[in-house]
Amino acid sequence: MKGLILSGGRGTRLRPLTYTSAKQLVPIANKPILFFCIESVVAAGITEIGIVVGETADEVRAAVGDGSRFGARVTYIEQEAPRGLAHAVLIAEDFIGDEPFVMYLGDNLIAGGITSLVDEFQELGPSAEILLAEVPDPRQFGVAELTENGRIRRLVEKPPEPKSNLALVGVYLFSSEIFESVRRIKPSPRGELEITDAIQDLIDRDLWVHPHKVQGWWKDTGKLEDVLEANRIMLDTFDTQAHRTWPPGVKVEGRVELGEGVELVDALIRGPVVIGAGTRVENAFVGPYTAIGERCVLKRCEVENSIILSDCEIQDIPLRIDGSLIGRNARIVKTDFKPKAYRFMLGDNSEVGIT
Ligand code: G1P
Repeated sequence: MKGLILSGGRGTRLRPLTYTSAKQLVPIANKPILFFCIESVVAAGITEIGIVVGETADEVRAAVGDGSRFGARVTYIEQEAPRGLAHAVLIAEDFIGDEPFVMYLGDNLIAGGITSLVDEFQELGPSAEILLAEVPDPRQFGVAELTENGRIRRLVEKPPEPKSNLALVGVYLFSSEIFESVRRIKPSPRGELEITDAIQDLIDRDLWVHPHKVQGWWKDTGKLEDVLEANRIMLDTFDTQAHRTWPPGVKVEGRVELGEGVELVDALIRGPVVIGAGTRVENAFVGPYTAIGERCVLKRCEVENSIILSDCEIQDIPLRIDGSLIGRNARIVKTDFKPKAYRFMLGDNSEVGIT
């Protein structure tokens, strides 16, 4: 089997971060989402991986390289514009050939990996296997309607009036029969070739599409609150404890992972927390579910339930920072200039919440 990981798209719901970075490279517990995908594909025994890239191709290439650090061989497939998931399949045909493959959306995370799914697909041998998860608001996903005996009746992409609460998860297993279907479908109202429509076409052609309900958690990390939730879930799986003797004034509680050369001075770190190499925390509190990147400086501030990317500076902030996603090299500092005022220099589509 081969793997096809999709890492294109514009990531509009994560702007401004995605103006300068691929959404698939946003770190969850200090590791890019895309790396979790690659690792779970490799863990399922699939090492020939194609990654479909778009505008952010250079950055994805720089992060993933030739795949050898994951024990995989990565081929990059350029998609000249985000023309849909089925279009990505279409342009990957030469790479895939006539082998079955797993397609994994590079902004999706599922608990426990995909090994058992890949095994089930190989054992049953359907034309496709799709994963379904119950969601509170199915209108933002592909939605499956099942018959009484659990077979698929219909798949509809982002229906305004969903017939069920079963969303299509962004991991699909296909035989090469999908190529004919992606050639048969027409663009959707949003102008994209939808993979949901291509799978419906398999069903229309009386081919077997096997639905598999996901038991554990699954996250499509397209939006801020989903990214933060994925971060909480991942940090919760940590079982490391920073067993070190700390100088007076430093307290490290619970599951905390500290990178090389992290400096703590008068600090309380309450896990689960991960802090990247070379970061300094001084006179500060870092609370549960926080991931801080490398080389940051946090002084006289309190942070929890947040993701802070590398090289940030946060100093002298009177209120606790919570539920925040802060991009690389950002500075949040107190100034003594007159008049006393908030001073912002924010990228397009930034969001600031002030109490
Ligand atoms: C895509 C698919 C949708 C699926 C979702 C899972 O949506 O089109 O059917 O439910 O991924 O993450 P998109 O992220 O393109 O809006």
